Amino acid sequence: MADSQRHPFLQGLSKHRGAPPTVVVIFGASGDLTARKLIPAVYNLSYDNLLPADFFIIGYGRKSIPDEEFRQHATDAIKEFSRRELKTDVWERIAANTRYLAGSYDDKSAFDRLATQIDEIERKVGREIQPLFYISTPPSVFGPILLNLGASGLARKHLGQPHEAKVIIEKPFGRDLATARELNGIIRSVFEERQVFRIDHYLGKETVQDLLVQRFANSIFEPLWNRNFIDSVQITVAEEVGVGSRGGYYEQSGGLRDMVQNHMMQLVALTAMEPPVSLDAEAIRDEKVKLLRAIQALAVGPDGDVVRAQYTAGMVAGKKVPGYLEETGVNPQSGTETYAALRLSINNWRWQGVPFYLRSGKRLARRVSEIAVTFKRPPGTLFAEGARFDLAPNTLSFQIQPDEGLSLIINTKIPGLETRTQPVKMNFRYSTTFGSNTPEAYERLVLDAMIGDGTLFIRGDETEASWRLCTPILEAWTAAGRKGMDAYPAGSWGPPGADALLSKNGHKWRQP
Ligand code: BG6
Repeated sequence: MADSQRHPFLQGLSKHRGAPPTVVVIFGASGDLTARKLIPAVYNLSYDNLLPADFFIIGYGRKSIPDEEFRQHATDAIKEFSRRELKTDVWERIAANTRYLAGSYDDKSAFDRLATQIDEIERKVGREIQPLFYISTPPSVFGPILLNLGASGLARKHLGQPHEAKVIIEKPFGRDLATARELNGIIRSVFEERQVFRIDHYLGKETVQDLLVQRFANSIFEPLWNRNFIDSVQITVAEEVGVGSRGGYYEQSGGLRDMVQNHMMQLVALTAMEPPVSLDAEAIRDEKVKLLRAIQALAVGPDGDVVRAQYTAGMVAGKKVPGYLEETGVNPQSGTETYAALRLSINNWRWQGVPFYLRSGKRLARRVSEIAVTFKRPPGTLFAEGARFDLAPNTLSFQIQPDEGLSLIINTKIPGLETRTQPVKMNFRYSTTFGSNTPEAYERLVLDAMIGDGTLFIRGDETEASWRLCTPILEAWTAAGRKGMDAYPAGSWGPPGADALLSKNGHKWRQP
């Protein structure tokens, strides 16, 4: 296809984005993530001609499922979840190379059978093929799978070649620092770090990648990006949905583990890190780790740096919804938070004294994720605020989702015969400038892992740095039970305690 005929997102895609022949082995093949994200991602990559000609899928799971049924399951998943409609010829190319292998995760002989299947594929295509293992099972079997990939020799297949084996690991990556370290220990006993791709799907979002471009490809931001000019930073990841049918999972997790430790800490790191020396994966991840390590330990308890809360019954999008404690699978005495707010202090030259406020919750007023950087006010010598001069601090906000884009609040003169001012918003919207239907995060991530680019994945030391901050909070909360748990009605913007967290410093949450 001529480049000019391709979709705008694909034009000029560099040659190095060609993946070697690959077999993707999905552990947890009958699970929800496979249907909602992985199969649609692979389908859309195929649609855009981004998959190698020799591309295979082996679904692996405990249930015994005939190949044909697995293919049907995948076809249904595309119909239901893909951003593009099912085009039979596109899917048939992959479906013909899709099979299923039943086996348990702790049975070495099943992994030997998997190795034999991969060898057969190599014989069939007459060349070596890259195995890409995708672990999307419950976390309790991450360890056994990794160890068996090691024991069967699959983890070291083609080691040292560009098409060496690779492994993608889904969240949750541990429950705390100790379990994350243990998991990293198992991974390192079997794989080299460069073979490992720890997923955080937020890094696959266009706007999250755009943060680096905005910060470092424009010369107007970086000189101001520090404590001399910035007053505070607010990061919001708000969801309208409740825990739905995931009550059982959520009870074991809670908002801090589910959203803050991973997604939000990544947003903090990308917003606040120093410029990397290159766009190389290691250079970027080195800077992120340094930043995470510069965040000071958080105080828990009254007047501390963290607030937790649960939603109570309320109205969301015009509908009555139950409170968290009434949801299916949730203990009516539960001490699990559905909302967390944090005040971070970053102890380095750039940020000392600039609070970073984070909040994330289920059943909030609206689904919105944004990073808002608020600049210091100008000295009030000329335009002292009052009836004539309505002024707001300059605020640059990155809209991660929905309605992706960038906005800047600036003060301007209201047209007229006297000088009066008003804050206005300058907007850039992805959908207006580039059209919609951007690739989904998982498309980019699966392709990146296939070509061995770890930039948008989390390195082992990053995950440990983030857990080091979150673990003491979780321990304190567990010890306190429900004591200190705040509440907010579903459909609101969060609990009163979160407002108090900011008002101490004279700040207020934005209404995104
Ligand atoms: C997942 C969490 O990691 O992210 C979910 O487990 C959450 O609880 C989801 O709903 C949010 O992702 P997104 O892309 O919809 O913001």
